[in-house]
Amino acid sequence: MTRPISVMIVDDSAEMRLSIRMLLEGADDVRIVAEADSGLEALKRLAVLPVDVVLMDIHMPEMDGVEATERIGREYPGCAVIILSVQNDVEYVRRSMRAGARDYLFKPVTGQTLLQTIRSVCETERDRHVRQTVAVLEQRAAHRPRAVVFSSAKGGVGKTTLVVNTAVALARQGKSVVIVDFDLSFGDAALFLNLEPLRTLADLARESGEIDPDVLSRYLVPHASGVYLLAAPKRPEEGEYVQSGHVRAIIQSLRRRFDFVLADTPPGLSDVFFTLLEVCDDWYMVSTLNLAVLKNNRLLRELVAELGYDTAQVRHLVNRVQPRSGLKMRDVAKVLQADVWWELADDPAEVTASINEGTPFVLRDPQGRLARQVYLLTARMEDERGERLSRRNPLRRLMPGR
Ligand SMILES: Nc1ncnc2c1ncn2[C@@H]1O[C@H](COP(=O)(O)OP(=O)(O)O)[C@@H](O)[C@H]1O
Ligand SMILES: [Mg+2]
Repeated sequence: MTRPISVMIVDDSAEMRLSIRMLLEGADDVRIVAEADSGLEALKRLAVLPVDVVLMDIHMPEMDGVEATERIGREYPGCAVIILSVQNDVEYVRRSMRAGARDYLFKPVTGQTLLQTIRSVCETERDRHVRQTVAVLEQRAAHRPRAVVFSSAKGGVGKTTLVVNTAVALARQGKSVVIVDFDLSFGDAALFLNLEPLRTLADLARESGEIDPDVLSRYLVPHASGVYLLAAPKRPEEGEYVQSGHVRAIIQSLRRRFDFVLADTPPGLSDVFFTLLEVCDDWYMVSTLNLAVLKNNRLLRELVAELGYDTAQVRHLVNRVQPRSGLKMRDVAKVLQADVWWELADDPAEVTASINEGTPFVLRDPQGRLARQVYLLTARMEDERGERLSRRNPLRRLMPGR
């Protein structure tokens, strides 16, 4: 059986309270948990006591039933008010209903009518609560953000190239995307996108006060593709303003607003990088077909694992793959001691031209081999976002039939 309905009787007449109490006696699904002789007293009780239904008289000293009903509706939305009044109070009853009362009864009332009204009001209230919870969960489920950190032990492997082109490809498919350039000393995401940011991460970090969505939005630079960029500092020495706390606040806030948050990083390890590993959903490791790069990326992953981070889900991307390279993909996996998750072709002419023009190659030549590989990569990213949903979706637990 569900828990009994807790009821509070609010009436300035002790005699009336007693007679209502007697009407409800014997109903084992209803429990009278409190009585009050004014609206003010009722509000005081509600502050400390969970109540499902309030039986409310209208004319009372201090605070009348209409005003009390209104305040309960505002302050205790899960609590339903039923007005109990006398016949010639019709105008008051109307006002109480407008103030949020769920039902009304005229005195004198029979025990049966009172019980039925309490039960039906309570049921409607519980239904409404479930519907609201489901709506909130649905909204959350529809928004399943992925924050992805791109990293590598060494520079020059194509992290920034991939971050920028992946972001634009995702945006072209209607996703909301933001790039945060955490390569704090030498970030070039802005250059790759041909953007000239007025404000950067360094300025944001120097803002006093909390990093909230309003503050953040002033630092986002829009690109024609729809991607937003939170740019790296303009001068290398400004990088030190950005601390772990900023990183955490920035990613958490952006995750709430964007489908994808892509974080670019400098090569190697830093506090910023470790914070990114904590707050991001995915870790992409970029390698090339170069033994030193592969070995060092493996060492980086192993070190991070030794420090207690979960590295089981690292996605290894191998960039600049050439068909005639001495290293075969088999060897790559051996050196990495992990599977390769995605391969991207070597296309120096296209990539160089795209960087020099400041136009990502996924826009410049969407049909090119490399661009198509990036578009397929983003499709896979999107798929994984969906997969996580079905595993994590809280609705499954709440409503098994869905
Ligand atoms: N798929 C590719 N094919 C050819 N050249 C590439 C490719 N990806 C990146 N590059 C080149 O590699 C260099 C480094 O790329 P970048 O994205 O700046 O690397 P990182 O951010 O890892 O330092 C750039 O000059 C770029 O032209
Ligand atoms: Mg870079």
